[in-house]
Order: sequence, then structure tokens, then C-alpha cells
Amino acid sequence: MNISYYLHKKELNRDDLVFLLGRTEPEELDQLYCAAREMKKEWVGNVDYYRGLLEFSNRCIKNCCYCGIRRGNRQVGRFDTPKEDILAMALWCYEQQYGSITLQSGERQDEAFIDYVEDLLREIKSIGNGALGITLCVGEQTKETYQRWYDAGAHRYLLRIESSNPKLYKTLHPQDGHHKWEVRKACLDALAAIGYQVGTGVMIGLPGQTLEDLADDILFYRNQNIAMIGMGPYVVHHNTPLGKKVSEAGLDSPEERARRLRLSINMVAVTRLFLKDVNIAATTAMQTLHPLGREMALKAGANILMPLVTLPQFRNQYQLYDNKPCLEDGQEQCRNCLSARVASVGDTVGWGQWGDSPHFFNNL
Ligand code: 5AD
Ligand code: SF4
Repeated sequence: MNISYYLHKKELNRDDLVFLLGRTEPEELDQLYCAAREMKKEWVGNVDYYRGLLEFSNRCIKNCCYCGIRRGNRQVGRFDTPKEDILAMALWCYEQQYGSITLQSGERQDEAFIDYVEDLLREIKSIGNGALGITLCVGEQTKETYQRWYDAGAHRYLLRIESSNPKLYKTLHPQDGHHKWEVRKACLDALAAIGYQVGTGVMIGLPGQTLEDLADDILFYRNQNIAMIGMGPYVVHHNTPLGKKVSEAGLDSPEERARRLRLSINMVAVTRLFLKDVNIAATTAMQTLHPLGREMALKAGANILMPLVTLPQFRNQYQLYDNKPCLEDGQEQCRNCLSARVASVGDTVGWGQWGDSPHFFNNL
């Protein structure tokens, strides 16, 4: 069976997803990405939306084995962005017509943090009378906390499941009772029950991860009725248990990185083909593995970009993985650079619009 048979099939099953994800021949990849781009045009248009990404603190109670700001990494200085700077950046996003802002930090569950975020949300919501869409990405919390933040103005929440395979998830996290797949999944359920537009995603090319796992990740998105997807390649961070293991095993070669990038773009394309009307981000990690990684993702069906608005003085303290791009840039440069990338693939930017996932409303 050649690839066009699968690309014209009405309903793709798990085996079909595995087949498509595993394509490596350039002509086949061209066909796959073209079909996904057509699907993007049909369901969400050739318009890409911005979410200004503000990484406001790198304090984290978790110790994920892959992440550069894990609690156990003593080489990284911890920071909190002063509130007035966060508000100034939110105002800047509004003035630049970004439409939406994403507030991201490491995970904390103390009352001071919960209050702080709640306050922040109310203040950002008051800018332009609620003009900015607000996405939160601050980890696992109780249902009560999620509800408080929803009431304060957040309406989207990103929480990556990291892998839909609980066994693989286990290999990536310490067994200390604080990193439980089931708890994470329950958080996704709680967010949906409250009424958030829920985003999730996975890391791609993880040691031990199979094509079947990735196909199951896409099925997980569907089963959870996910509206927004943020996923990208696993990238080594030198001072993490997983990064050290992968490097020592010789699994961070240029060929291996190219494989992880290809798999990531394939995931974007196959997710677009399968889920059609969801929002899919072209993530920074893709650019880490190739200078044109984000353009590749846009061409293969992604429609969301997250220009960094993290304060330049804190950018090098928010490195989840090595060689993160844009560390030297200010928010102006990130804006112009991404606009050029969007134009280069023949898309336009949805300035000033929230760019909500049509899937969320199609399912109400
Ligand atoms: N490589 C790629 N992505 C990573 N993340 C954390 N560490 C890495 C890494 N080394 C991702 C996780 C997390 C998100 C905020 O960043 O998926 O959910
Ligand atoms: Fe903390 Fe998120 Fe990094 Fe895990 S991936 S250590 S929760 S910032």
C-alpha cells in the first residue's frame, strides 16, 4: 500500500497512524506534509496566531529527569519576575496585537503562589477590558485552584501529559510519589470539567518511545477531547539524569537529533490529519534541532506560535534543554523574527485575535 492510500482514507486507525508516523522517504514526507497543510487550510485557515510566552519564574518543586530547571539542578539560579514587569509585558503584548498571552513557570502549589497568580490574572484581565486571551501553564494543581484561576480570567490551560504511556512516563520521573501519571491525567480531566480550553502534548523521540506510543499519544488527544496541542522533540539538557544517560549512550548524535526532529514534524502532520480542527503549536524545541524547525511545523499543519516575551535578563535561567534559541533576543526581535517566518511559508498572522481552537466550540 503506498502513502496516498492512507492520505485518502476516511478514518485512520492506530495501524495507519503508526505507518504514517514512520515515513522517512523525502517524497513520501512531501506528500504527508502537503496533505496536512491542506487540512490546516480547510479547518483552521492559513492564519497563524500568536501567544506571547512569558516564563515568569523558574522555581519548581518537581524533579523531572529531563528538565534543566528541575529542583535538583543546583547550577541554575532561581528567579521571579517582578509583578510590574509581568504587567508591563502583558500590556506590550496587547499593544502589539498579540491577542493572547501564555503565563508559564515551574510548578509550585503553596498558597502564596496560588494567590499571586490569581491576582496577576485579574490585573492582566483588566488590560483593554479583557482584551487578552490568557493561557496558564503552571503545572499540577487542585481542582479548587484551577477553579479560582478560571474565575480570575484564565480560560486556557496547558499541561503536557509528556507521554500517554504510563510506563514510559515512569522512566522519565523520580519514583517519589510526586510524579504520578494518573494524577496528571486527573488534572486534565478537572480542567476540562471546569470549562477551560485544555491543551496537552508530549515529548517526541524519547529513549524507549515507539511509533506505537506516538500513535497512542494522538489517540489520547482525541479521547481527552483536547483543543490545543503543544509538542516537540526531546532535547538533551547536559545537567539532568536523562540528558547524561542519553549522551553517554551516544544517543545525541546529529543523526539521532535529525530523527527526533523528523518524528516531531510527522507528529504535527499526522495529528492535523487525524484531529483536523485543533490548534497545534510550532514549538521552540523544533527550532533548537534545526534553524527552520518552526517553519517546517507550520508547513506541516501547525498554526500557533509562541513568541518569547520573557525578560531578556532571565532567559538563560529558563533553559529546559540545551541550545534554546532566542536567548540573546528582546521581545521586539522575537516579534519580527516570527512574523518573517510566518510570511516565508505563505501564511498570515491573526493579529489581535484570540485564535481559539475551533475544536473547542465545535464540541460544545
Ligand atoms: N526537551 C524537550 N522538552 C522539554 N520539556 C522539559 N524538558 C525538556 C527537554 N529536555 C518540556 C516538557 C514540559 C514543557 C514545559 O517543556 O514537555 O511539559
Ligand atoms: Fe518543573 Fe515542568 Fe521542568 Fe518538570 S518539566 S521540572 S514540572 S519545569
